[in-house]
Amino acid sequence: MPKILVTGGTGYIGSHTVVELIANSYEVVIIDNLSNSRKEVLDGIKKISGIMPEFFVFDLCDLEKTEKFFQKNKIDAIIHFASYKAVGESVQNPLKYYRNNLVSLMNLLEMAIKYEIANFVFSSSCTVYGETKNSPINEEEPVQKPASPYGNTKKIAEEIISDVACVNSFLKIISLRYFNPIGAHESALIGEEPRGIPANLVPYITQTAIGKREELKVFGNDYNTKDGTCIRDFIHVVDLAQAHIKAVDCLLKNKNQNNLEIFNLGTGQGFSVLELIKAFEEVSGEKLNYKIVERREGDIMEIYADTKKANEILGWKAKKNIKEALLSAWNWEKAN
Ligand code: UD1
Repeated sequence: MPKILVTGGTGYIGSHTVVELIANSYEVVIIDNLSNSRKEVLDGIKKISGIMPEFFVFDLCDLEKTEKFFQKNKIDAIIHFASYKAVGESVQNPLKYYRNNLVSLMNLLEMAIKYEIANFVFSSSCTVYGETKNSPINEEEPVQKPASPYGNTKKIAEEIISDVACVNSFLKIISLRYFNPIGAHESALIGEEPRGIPANLVPYITQTAIGKREELKVFGNDYNTKDGTCIRDFIHVVDLAQAHIKAVDCLLKNKNQNNLEIFNLGTGQGFSVLELIKAFEEVSGEKLNYKIVERREGDIMEIYADTKKANEILGWKAKKNIKEALLSAWNWEKAN
């Protein structure tokens, strides 16, 4: 079976994707520097899938180590997750984000060219659409400068990829723009593990419900939306992981139409922050302690995906609903 390199494979989306790759009989090798994940995630992967993937711990910004890896390992496709993702930290320390997220990408692309690895899947984000008013948003929407350096690394990464793909016609690249991934594997053996205080909504909700946090702050209820809170496209991480299998299949079977293709990955449905809280209370049976506070700087009012392109070309559609996602996140929180 083809061998897939998953960078960031012990991370949140990476680990769920590794499980799906193994379930689809792919051979997996992971590179992760464990800067924001734990080696024990591999045990969860092994328990779910029965297979312990090959694992290398090093930093992809280190070109020498990266090259040594590619000299020794024959890879058929790369899925590149490894990157920093904390929006607030990126505002405080932009160079950390530009260096890590962009140098690692450039090193990998250089290796893909040198070792003729044609198939490359990149983790991008809907943050590249910036402050948009056009939801549901499709891939034709022009990208704008994102609100944070983190977001900007994704926009610049897509530009680098586009320039590289342009002059290396053998490369086949898919860039996946994720909306808001939530939830965990149904086994509750892997899930999202934020370090310190969670910046994202769902881990904050589950930690509040279990008593690790006193109360959830809802950032603003004076937006021009149905209930005044922001609207997002919350997608189950397992659905998201499965889209990566479709992307790899598409590349390996040469079904991509252009040598760089971009796909939105979302459910196509927008939920407000308050709707999400209500759904969480229903599935968990817990009353959530929350209060409305002022808006958070840099938040977009409403963004959700038009998923037609991924539906039609990748043959992929999100199957799980928001309640299944929230229940899995809650079970994961309780298991930890
Ligand atoms: C952000 C990034 C996205 C990134 C994702 C994961 C932007 C515009 N978006 O998404 O690119 O992939 O984080 O790191 O940079 N909320 C609360 N209280 C909280 C936390 C969140 O009310 O304690 C609200 C937010 O105001 C927002 C919604 O919940 O309206 C979702 O927030 P969050 O989970 O942080 O994701 P995004 O900001 O959408």
